Amino acid sequence: MSGPILVTSGLSKSFQSSRGLFKKPLTVQAINNISFTLGQAETLSVVGETGSGRTTLAHILAGINYPDQGMLLYKGKPVSYLQKKDEELLHKKLRLIFQNPGRTLNPKAPVYKTLIEPLHNNPDVPQHEYRKRINQILEKVGLRPEQSHWLPHMFSGGQRQRIAIARALVSSPEIIIADEPLSALDVSVQAQIINLMLDLQQKEGVSYVFISHNLGVVQHISDKVLVMFGGQLMEYGHIDDVFNRPGHPYTRALLASVPGLKRNALKQWRQTQKILTKSIDTHLGCPYVSRCPVATEQCHHENPEHTPVDQQIVSCHHAGNI
Ligand SMILES: Nc1ncnc2c1ncn2[C@@H]1O[C@H](COP(=O)(O)OP(=O)(O)OP(=O)(O)O)[C@@H](O)[C@H]1O
Ligand code: SF4
Ligand SMILES: [Mg+2]
Repeated sequence: MSGPILVTSGLSKSFQSSRGLFKKPLTVQAINNISFTLGQAETLSVVGETGSGRTTLAHILAGINYPDQGMLLYKGKPVSYLQKKDEELLHKKLRLIFQNPGRTLNPKAPVYKTLIEPLHNNPDVPQHEYRKRINQILEKVGLRPEQSHWLPHMFSGGQRQRIAIARALVSSPEIIIADEPLSALDVSVQAQIINLMLDLQQKEGVSYVFISHNLGVVQHISDKVLVMFGGQLMEYGHIDDVFNRPGHPYTRALLASVPGLKRNALKQWRQTQKILTKSIDTHLGCPYVSRCPVATEQCHHENPEHTPVDQQIVSCHHAGNI
């Protein structure tokens, strides 16, 4: 396939958040105008701090939440969230690894039941091969085939997370959305899972949307990166371009805060770390304005547009001049 496997354009989603019995509910704009392109066998990482809208984006891609605005194209065709056949198509071709995936297992279902369920949706795996496939995937995530009869409570938290990852991988989906899949795992298991994901990508051409706080892992596995803040796209582009020549003040602050990443060009941005604790702005201007060391008057009342700078897209009024 030559074209991209997934394209999003202007995805937006808001939620009504209750403020008590007699107060009007508050509208939270969880994501706003998110666009990206995912090629086959590519990894796009989504980074940003807590509350930046990454899980909301993951749930929209997986069809768990519907967007208020925007489009999703699968292999060039628009996906309608309201059409059963499109919903089924996404469920067959796309699997989500939930944030805290170990908690999403059915406590009463032995592991093989959890792993068989996605195989029923996949006509490419004949029924007589289910057992072989389940054993293979359990071994790949570092568990033993005989453990397939165990119930979730008989595993440790990290092992439960591996079962949830196996559930996403077992039916060989084309796209995997992984929402912080490594967060509860120790470093050696993290490496094992990353190698497994890369191996699957090489052998089966799987594409990943990978959500993570770990910028070291992101740098290692990604082709592209989408940097989010306050629900909005701050910067998007190829990983080397964004990490070596970040064009957005927030990307610079984010990279400068991680020891060991390439950041020669970032020294002057160290000052931004000192004000990283300030809150996110929710008014009409740039969401980053209260933390930004180069904010101007315009930034307080106008939301910046997505602007091409070098090889990447940057949402900043002063993109290319800072
Ligand atoms: N169902 C919901 N109802 C109300 N507000 C919501 C809902 N889901 C998300 N939000 C709000 O949307 C914003 C984005 O949340 P989201 O969970 O997508 O962020 P995140 O980047 O995944 O954060 P985390 O690091 O905590 O996982 C937050 O302000 C959150 O409170
Ligand atoms: S638009 Fe203004 S406040 Fe936002 S990142 Fe750019 S300079 Fe900073
Ligand atoms: Mg999340």
